[in-house]
Amino acid sequence: MKNNKKSSKRFVLVTGGTGYIGSHTVVALIAAGYNPIIVDNLSNSKVSVLKRIKKITGKLPLFYKMDLRNTMALNKIFQKHSIASVIHFAGFKAVGESVAEPLKYYENNIQSTISLCKVMNMHSVKKIIFSSSASVYGEASVVPIKENSLPVPASPYACTKLMIEQILIDIYLADPFWRIALLRYFNPVGAHESGLMGEDPQGIPNNLMPYISQVAVGRHKKVNIFGNDYPTDDGTGVRDYIHVMDLAEGHVAALKKIETATFKKPQIINLGTGKGYSVIEILRAFEKAAGKVIPYRITKRRPGDIAACYADIKLAKKLLGWKAKRNLADMCADAWHWQSQNPKGY
Ligand code: NAD
Ligand code: WQD
Repeated sequence: MKNNKKSSKRFVLVTGGTGYIGSHTVVALIAAGYNPIIVDNLSNSKVSVLKRIKKITGKLPLFYKMDLRNTMALNKIFQKHSIASVIHFAGFKAVGESVAEPLKYYENNIQSTISLCKVMNMHSVKKIIFSSSASVYGEASVVPIKENSLPVPASPYACTKLMIEQILIDIYLADPFWRIALLRYFNPVGAHESGLMGEDPQGIPNNLMPYISQVAVGRHKKVNIFGNDYPTDDGTGVRDYIHVMDLAEGHVAALKKIETATFKKPQIINLGTGKGYSVIEILRAFEKAAGKVIPYRITKRRPGDIAACYADIKLAKKLLGWKAKRNLADMCADAWHWQSQNPKGY
């Protein structure tokens, strides 16, 4: 009986879909012909992103302002709509904050996932893509990092990611009908090429690219470069920056694979470009994109930072048939387009 009330439309539930990566993925999903439903409690995003999604795609996705830990309310959404699969972005993501407030991270990230998976099980929805992170590899890694590198998470945030991966693997071991992709993102940056959507951190940005773009737009005086004595070519930290729209399209590729049941068991997959750029290289590329000099000063190392981190991307190519297409100039141009058109964010 319950099913009769549902529309015949099949949906992809996107948790955290008003957030930075989620909103760009919603655009990519719509472009690929999917019907996303967003669940987000707006703890780190703004509802106005929905209008931007409509402006870009012509479609306003269904949206529920809701905390994922509210299992009863989540159950109602699954009762109402025919949900085929889930992309699970929702969670807290600030590494430093997680060190200061570990319980906040364990509570939100783990409980949200348990609540979500319980409801999915109740409705026999067994396809999920999870936002994991390169931070699970931690300090001990050799580069480029392969998926089978021993994970050594160095923060409560990274521990939540590894724990959630394990929770999902255990769910599969108990019920092999689950289809699971565990995507470990490297450093997502940039914005939608329209300049209508981008990263809008609340407060002072923790991450390099949004900080640089806020300096470029005049919100801060100079970029602090955290150390120039690392064993890298110019002494500054090297990372694998990936354009957020490439990342979004990587999710569409993963969704297609789990839909066709290609993955017989949970797959851990790196999403990066495989190339590393130093802080100085990012700063110079951004200066080119913005057409202005960006002031900086060298400060001491940030605790917990590592010298170099970039992905081995062979598995993504092999399993998903996906590879990032956009280069560093595109990442900076799109980030600047977004920031200069929206100096204060949404
Ligand atoms: P984001 O903060 O912009 O988006 C996360 C969204 O989840 C926010 O809109 C927030 O309001 C929502 N949310 C948080 N807790 C919730 C809850 N209990 N119920 C409902 N909604 C909730 O972050 P993002 O950069 O888009 O990251 C998305 C995911 O990717 C996160 O899980 C993050 O840990 C992971 N990730 C991000 C990066 C990165 O550098 N941005 C790198 C690797 C992995
Ligand atoms: C990049 C480089 C800094 C800011 C983090 C998380 C990781 C993932 C992505 C979620 C480093 C340097 C930075 C600044 C600087 N997120 N830097 N001045 O630390 O590689 O990764 O975001 O999963 O888990 O740890 O990214 O952008 O903070 O730093 O010099 O103001 O830029 O030292 O070398 P990071 P980042």
